[in-house]
Amino acid sequence: MTGATNILNVKPHKEAVHTGINDADRKAIAKALSAILTDTYLLVIKSHVYHWNVVGPLFQPIHEMTEGHYENLFKACDELAERIRALGHPAPLTDKHVLSEGSITIDKTSTTAREMVEELVADHEGLCRTMRDCAEMAEEKGDFVSHDLLTGRLTYHEKAIWMLRAIITE
Ligand SMILES: [Fe+2]
Repeated sequence: MTGATNILNVKPHKEAVHTGINDADRKAIAKALSAILTDTYLLVIKSHVYHWNVVGPLFQPIHEMTEGHYENLFKACDELAERIRALGHPAPLTDKHVLSEGSITIDKTSTTAREMVEELVADHEGLCRTMRDCAEMAEEKGDFVSHDLLTGRLTYHEKAIWMLRAIITE
């Protein structure tokens, strides 16, 4: 077997991490971050779908706002997944995982602009609640990096919620 063949056959291995957070705590935080990653990815897709399909006089502002959202959320997926890897765990994003574990649904591709905005507000709010719990747990377990990452994400989502809400006038 050549060296070139060998380097293509490296399998994931148990990663020993000695950064001051014990195995069980790293596992629990990685699991919570994985749920956030899943929903963040689903919200990327949903924001994109609404970006394409929104209609009416508010087409332009919603079209542009959702574009900003899916771009930001897509980058956030990478940050969340890389944090999970740094904790010594794989980023488990399979199609089955997304469909069975995700709490954000994309069951309508065409609806009113108002319903789209209301749904997006609810989805961002749900993610905030999950992130707040995870941030609290991470801090309790001494994982200030995950706590910091989630604080930044919460800042973004809360601002996004304000801006989405500002579109709805009654
Ligand atoms: Fe576009």
